[in-house]
Amino acid sequence: MATDGKTKKARRLALITGASGGIGEAFAGILAEEGWDLVLVARNEDELRRVAGVLQAATDTTAHVLPFDLAQAGAGGKLIKALQRRGWMPEVLINNAGFGLNGRAMELDVDRQLRMIDLNVRTLTELSLRLLPQMIARGAGGVLNVASTAGFMSGPHMAVYFATKAYVLHFSEALAEEARGSKVTVTALCPGPVKTGFQETAGMSDGLLMKLMPAARAKDVARAGWQGFKEGRAVVVPGAMNWLAAQMPRLLPRAVVRKANGWLFRPKKD
Ligand SMILES: NC(=O)c1ccc[n+]([C@@H]2O[C@H](COP(=O)([O-])OP(=O)(O)OC[C@H]3O[C@@H](n4cnc5c(N)ncnc54)[C@H](OP(=O)(O)O)[C@@H]3O)[C@@H](O)[C@H]2O)c1
Repeated sequence: MATDGKTKKARRLALITGASGGIGEAFAGILAEEGWDLVLVARNEDELRRVAGVLQAATDTTAHVLPFDLAQAGAGGKLIKALQRRGWMPEVLINNAGFGLNGRAMELDVDRQLRMIDLNVRTLTELSLRLLPQMIARGAGGVLNVASTAGFMSGPHMAVYFATKAYVLHFSEALAEEARGSKVTVTALCPGPVKTGFQETAGMSDGLLMKLMPAARAKDVARAGWQGFKEGRAVVVPGAMNWLAAQMPRLLPRAVVRKANGWLFRPKKD
C-alpha cells in the first residue's frame, strides 16, 4: 500500500490477470517500474502477495491483490463488481491469465477443456467489453490481450488451446479496428514458446516443441508486448522465429501446417 513518502498525484492503474507468475508477473514488474499502480488477479493469493511485496519494495507502485478463479461462471462480472466497490477504474487491462492442455482433445478431460474456454475466451471477452467503454470515454488506455502464435493456425494435440488463441487474436484485432481514432489501443500479443509454468500445466514440459524451439524469457515477451501496446499496434509477434511461424499458414497449404503441428505437439507417450 502507499506509504507516506509516495507521490500523492493521481496515478494510473492497470489490471493484470494471471499476475501470480510467468508473463503476468513480468508485465507487473515492467508497469510498476514505469510508475503504474496495479490490480493483480489470479487464484494463488500467496503468490500474488509475493509479487505485490517484491514490487512495492522495489518501486513506488501500490499493488492491490484480488484473488479470483477467472474460469468460474460469472467470474468476469464478479471481478468488475469488486473493482467498482473499491472505486478502481483501470486505464489498462492486461488479459494474460490462460492455460493450455496437451493431448488428444477427445481423450483430455472435457470439463478442464471447457474451463479453458471460460478462462481464455469468455472471461477475457467480458473484461474487455465491460472495461473498454470507460477507457473510450476517458480517451486513454486500452486492452492488451495475450494470444499466441497458436492463434494463427490449428493445433492437433492442443486443439482447444489453439482455437481459444485464434479467438483472442481475431477478437482483439477486430476491437482494435473498432477503437481506431479513439485514443484507446487494443493489442494482441502473440508469443511463441516462453519459459513459464505454462508447459507444466499443459503437460508438455518434455515434448518435442520445447526441445526444438528456443523458449523466450517472460520479461522479454512482456516488454515487447507493452512496447507494441504503447505504439498502438494491433498485433505483436515477438521474435523473428515466431514471426516466421505466424506466416506459415499464409505460405504453406493448411494440410501441411496442421500435420506439422500434429507432429510438433505430439505428447511424448504417443
Ligand atoms: N508460456 C508460453 O509458452 C506461452 C506462449 C504463448 C502464449 N502464452 C500465454 O501467456 C499467458 C500467460 O501464461 P504463462 O506462460 O505466463 O503461464 P503461467 O506461468 O502458467 O501463468 C498463468 C497465469 O494464469 C493464472 N491463471 C491460471 N488459471 C487461472 C484461473 N482459473 N483464474 C485466474 N488466473 C488463472 C495463473 O495463476 P494461478 O495459478 O495463481 O491462478 C498464472 O498467474 C497465457 O494466456 C498463455 O496462454 C504462453
